[in-house]
Amino acid sequence: MLSVLDVLTNQKCVFVLVLCLVVFSLVASTESMDNDDVEEDNDEPFIPTNEWQQVKPGQAIPSGLHVKMDLSNGGKWAKLMDDGKTSQKSSLQLAPDANKEEEPAPNDIKGTYSIDELKQSLKKMKQEKKEASKETSEDIKSKFRSMDEIRKDFDALNLHQETDVEVMQRLIATLRLKTSDVKEKLAALQDLEYYVHQIDNAVDLFNIGGFGDVLKQLNNTDASLREEAAHTIGSAIQSNPTAQIKAYENGLLTNILRLISDSQQPIPVRKKCLYCLSALLRHFPYAQLKLYENGGFTELRNVYHQEVGETIKIKIIQLLNDLVTERQTTLLQDEDTHDKKEKLKQYERLPLAKLIKEDGWCKAIVDALQTDNHGSREMVLQAIKSIYPTCSQKFLEHGAMDAVLRIKMEYKTLSEEEISSNDPDGYYTLMHNLVSEVIGLLKNGPKAKDEL
Ligand SMILES: *[C@@H]1O[C@H](CO)[C@@H](O)[C@H](O)[C@H]1NC(C)=O
Repeated sequence: MLSVLDVLTNQKCVFVLVLCLVVFSLVASTESMDNDDVEEDNDEPFIPTNEWQQVKPGQAIPSGLHVKMDLSNGGKWAKLMDDGKTSQKSSLQLAPDANKEEEPAPNDIKGTYSIDELKQSLKKMKQEKKEASKETSEDIKSKFRSMDEIRKDFDALNLHQETDVEVMQRLIATLRLKTSDVKEKLAALQDLEYYVHQIDNAVDLFNIGGFGDVLKQLNNTDASLREEAAHTIGSAIQSNPTAQIKAYENGLLTNILRLISDSQQPIPVRKKCLYCLSALLRHFPYAQLKLYENGGFTELRNVYHQEVGETIKIKIIQLLNDLVTERQTTLLQDEDTHDKKEKLKQYERLPLAKLIKEDGWCKAIVDALQTDNHGSREMVLQAIKSIYPTCSQKFLEHGAMDAVLRIKMEYKTLSEEEISSNDPDGYYTLMHNLVSEVIGLLKNGPKAKDEL
């Protein structure tokens, strides 16, 4: 499968090529007899026929011909238009294989691009970009840069491309319209979700007063809209402190917690709400504290013990793991900034370790190792590592050692198979290393005190 970046790059190449061809055909029609600008003059006249002929470097060609570029070998090819007449309309083609003499069937002509098709490509590209999940903000930035460049190309052709804010305003209007149906609203939310990945767009969503409209969709009677609203909000606030604060101020925490706790909600809705909750809480200790004060941790424990399926359970464990890990990294940070001091003050007010111990999480985490799913096990093993300082004794009491030894046997075999098939850094080998590390931790405690 092409990566999104590849798609972007390809689209750009095509675009630049089309621009070149437009320029080229202008040169061909206005300067056909007097081409001083071409590096290498070639006086031999080009006599077009119904067959493709290669245009020699520097050779002038009459206007109105079919012109195609040979992408693999370089060079241009030209022939008369199909009906034998020349035409003022330039027909642009990309020929993947110019050595093929036979003329492609009309349906077969790939790479003939009109402005409309380019717009379509850009739209499609945005769609595809949206589908790429788990992007780092650096990835996103570099992609947006490419998008900006493409936008400049459009500007060069005097085509107005809507700004991101204009697009978001249009999408919000769709959400507000009483006449929009579920399908239209869903598409609007999906498009918004794509736009708000960019940090500035997410902040603009609040500035243009659109956040409340998305938040309202969390109460929509249609489950797919509730799910997508949680997804959109999660993407808007993820790793975006300004948006996190604004979302909190707009009452996101209570709205999202209510859906997570509601056993009437379909699992996919609750899953996206957990994603959204996690995006709100990460590196935002004030919201974590408020979750605690609102009984949110107790709610999460109750949800965990409902029939919610493994994915939700693992997501809750992951959330705890993330909260514990971010505290540890904040504590280990060297610099003594005001920001760090403020964060530590708030972390102190939330007795996370006590909660984990008293709410039965030590046992729940050991029990979660029962799964056969490798990804889930990986997550649980990571959680054992990070939560070890809190649960060390309880992990052992609840049979953690037996559980990890059993898993280790399994990964030992799988890892050996991997290594014998020439894959020394395979997934099972990594898992085997991770289990071994956890066993070492359970046996001997942390290697050095300062690792706490
Ligand atoms: C959704 O409904 C609940 C209860 O019915 C209400 O408290 C909440 O404010 C509503 N949320 C929004 C964003 O309208």
